[in-house]
Formats: sequence, structure tokens, C-alpha cells
Amino acid sequence: MAKTIIVSNRLPISLRHRNGRFEFKPSAGGLATGLGSIYKTGENIWIGWPGNTVDDPEQRAEIILELHELKMAPVFLSKEDVEQFYEGFSNECLWPAFHYFTQYMIYNPEHWEAYVRVNQKFCEAILKRADPDDTIWVHDYQLLLLPQMLREVLPNATIAFFQHIPFPSYEILRMIPWRKQLLEGVCGADLIGFHTYDDMRHFLSAVNRITGLSNESGYLQAENRIINVDSFPMGIDYDKFAKQAKSRKTQNIVKEFKGQMIDQKLIITIDRLDYSKGIPQRLQAFNQLLKDHKELHGKVSMIMIVVPSRDKVQSYKELKEEIDLLVGRMNSDYSTLNWVPVHYFYRSFPFEELSAFYSMSDIALVTPLRDGMNLVCKEFVASKTDQSGVLILSEMAGASKELQDAVLVNPNDQQGVVDAIYEALQMKPAEQKARISSMQESLKKYDIFQWVKVFMDRIEHVKEKQEELT
Ligand code: UDP
Ligand code: G6P
Repeated sequence: MAKTIIVSNRLPISLRHRNGRFEFKPSAGGLATGLGSIYKTGENIWIGWPGNTVDDPEQRAEIILELHELKMAPVFLSKEDVEQFYEGFSNECLWPAFHYFTQYMIYNPEHWEAYVRVNQKFCEAILKRADPDDTIWVHDYQLLLLPQMLREVLPNATIAFFQHIPFPSYEILRMIPWRKQLLEGVCGADLIGFHTYDDMRHFLSAVNRITGLSNESGYLQAENRIINVDSFPMGIDYDKFAKQAKSRKTQNIVKEFKGQMIDQKLIITIDRLDYSKGIPQRLQAFNQLLKDHKELHGKVSMIMIVVPSRDKVQSYKELKEEIDLLVGRMNSDYSTLNWVPVHYFYRSFPFEELSAFYSMSDIALVTPLRDGMNLVCKEFVASKTDQSGVLILSEMAGASKELQDAVLVNPNDQQGVVDAIYEALQMKPAEQKARISSMQESLKKYDIFQWVKVFMDRIEHVKEKQEELT
């Protein structure tokens, strides 16, 4: 029987090094949960990088065995691969380009060679396990070349690709010297998915201008097959967040966390450390609010969680320093013995505590300068089970297309963000309820399980259509 193989650069596990051994904990992330019904069934499997370098053959064998139990298979990357493929081409060329941060782009032919080499490594790892009629679902920008590499060896396989980050306009993509190879790589797939309609349009337009292929109603006519391109906005595991927020465990944590902040309005912000998230701009807006509204001193605090990420990449290191400086300055300017404006945490939190932060906060301030989707804003909405709270959301996040009942802002418009926070602080409970409940309705309906189902159904549909045409 044909099986399904999920492929992503990072496997859905977190790794701990304990007593000279590696220990794996399956990740509870949204994508991992949503795809759980797929990769944990039958002969299906998830292939990817375990997130660390392991050179010792004995340790590798051990890891292969442990991951096998979890229905996963590792692709081991060398130190050089990590530096040149992951930190280099993926995160110093593609990530900044696709998020419109062209000033951070590095065009390094060695990094490109490593990108080709590592995509090939993934291809080989898949070919060891794949049968000719399997379905292979490749995820994200680190593996853009993989669909075509697979197609060359498995011409009849069902290959799908989903991009979790934005797809930029042609004007940006054309800056990358290897743009044609990248697009041809993705076009090895039968189905290509993006979060938003705009990402999809940008992709189709770039394909047309760079490779000459034109589309009709979202179908590209390649040499010997049609390729479907469409948008599939990813959801969250809604029930999991709603249930956790109501649980006694989380509510006890809320009591403990709120402690002395009982009379304060709380603004929550949660991001990976990333320049695309607009963290300094957000701090500056909060600073401006405190400058303009002295009456808010002591009455409103920001809880800012920054999850460490890609900390070997120069632009991320610099960002960390900038944030540290800004928070330090704000807290030293405004703090009193009873009040600190920004509670800043540079680390990740367990799920129950994240849920408590969402649940206890009055406002979520989600202001990326560019974001493929952004799940944090959706998780906040799902966690507000009493339907209080206000979501302030950047127009530049893919999620803003669905969450029109958020207070939408342009994150570059500092005064606009200041006004939005002020408005949110004054918003009447009835309006909060109307907005939150309307967003909850749509998030409940289009949850992560629905997303997976719609995407998998579409793959089948595309294959049927291809057969009809041959
Ligand atoms: N998150 C987490 N631990 C934390 C903070 C955040 O697991 O301590 C999760 C959060 O719940 C969300 C994800 O990290 O699901 C961030 O996803 P998002 O789409 O917002 O941004 P990305 O990091 O993918 O750019
Ligand atoms: C974003 C990307 C993912 C990536 C994740 C964490 O969500 O779309 O592909 O895995 O960030 O980044 P990292 O570099 O740690 O894998």
C-alpha cells in the first residue's frame, strides 16, 4: 500500500543531552499535532534534521533507533551543512529575501552549493524509504529544490509542497542569483500551497516571468503534467488551547503569575527572536504610549516572551542586543518600586505556562513587519474562553486576512500602534466579546485538522485531474 512521507528541515522533536546520551521529546507544536494523524499511521513517516550535529556513528545508530519508535527518520547534517545550508543560504538569503529584508541578504555561492547538496541529502534519505507511488509532502523554504529532485527519480510519485513563510513579489525574488533553479525545484510538485492568496499570486507571477509557464485558474501546465497552486491558511489545534486555558492547572498558574499585577492591564507579546517580528518597533510604540499617557504608569505592563532562535546568525545577534538595550532603557526610565513596564523573558515556556500568559492578558500585541501566517495571534484568541481581550494584529501577518475582527495596524506606523493600544485599553467588554467570539468561530471551524484534510484531499483531486488529462 502506498504510504505518505512528511519532510521538513526540522523534525518535530526537541532534543535533550543527558548523561552523555541524547533524549527526544516529541514536539507539541501545531504542525506536529496536525500532521500526527498522518505520520503516526501505518507505514507513514516524518523525515528531517534532528536539530543538532552528531558525528559519532554509535550515537547516530542510537538516534535512528529512538526516532524509529516515534515514526521519524533523521537526516544528519554536518557542522558545515548547518553553517552553510541552514544558517547560510536558508537563513541569510532566503529568509530575509522572502520577508522583504533585502538589506540582510547574503549572496554566497558556497552557501548555494551547500543548499543544493543538503537538498540532495534529503532526497537520498527519502529515496531509501520511498516507493514509486508514495505521497511525499515537503515543507518550507529550506527544501525548495527537493520536489524536482524527487520527481526526476520518482516520476509517478505524488509530491506536494507547502511554504510556511511569505512568498515575495517578483521584484524581490529576481534579486536571488539562483531564482530560476529555486522555482524549477518547487515546480517538481503536483500541488503547491501557500498561506495566503497574495503569496500564491506572487509565486504564479514569478514562475511566469522567470520560467515562462503560465497558469489558468491556479493550474500551471508543465511539460507533461499539470501543477495546482493555491492558498491554504493554516489553523491551530483550537480545542487544545481552549481546553488548556480553562484547566485548573493553567488557572492556578494564572493566579500565581498575576500576583501583584492584579490591578494592571497586561499586554502579551510572544515571538521567536526574529527581525521579521518587529520587536524593537513594538517596544518603541509602547515607550511612546507611556511617554504620552502618564496616567497609564503603574496601570499597564507588557509581558514580552522572546524565544531564542538562530542565534549564530549575525542579524539575530544584533537584534538581541538592540532589544536588550531598549528594554533596559525603558525599564530604567519608568520603573517604580511597584511597577515594571516590560517583563522580558528570553526563553521558551512550557505549554501550560504559555496558556496562562494568553489567558491572563488583556491585549495581545502581534505586530510583525512580515509574517507568513503567525500562530501566536490565533492561539491568544482560542485561549480567551471568557471572550474578553483584544487582539492588535499587524496587516503584514498572513493571519490578518482571516482575523478581520482584530484591531488591525500597520507596524511601521508608530502612532497608529500607539493609538491601537490606547483604544484596546479603553475597549468596552461588549465590543471585546463581539470581536473575540467572531474570530473564535472561524478559528474553530478552520483548525489544523481541517487544514490537513483540505490539503490532503486536494492532493488526491489533483492526481485524479492529471489522470483524466493523460
Ligand atoms: N511557542 C512555543 N514556546 C514558547 C513560545 C512560543 O512553543 O515559549 C510557540 C507558539 O505557541 C507558536 C509558535 O511558537 O505556536 C510560533 O509560531 P508563529 O507562527 O507565531 O511564528 P514562527 O516562530 O513560526 O515564525
Ligand atoms: C518558522 C519556519 C519553520 C522553522 C521555524 C523555526 O516557523 O517557517 O520552517 O522551522 O520558523 O525556525 P528554525 O530555524 O529554528 O527551524
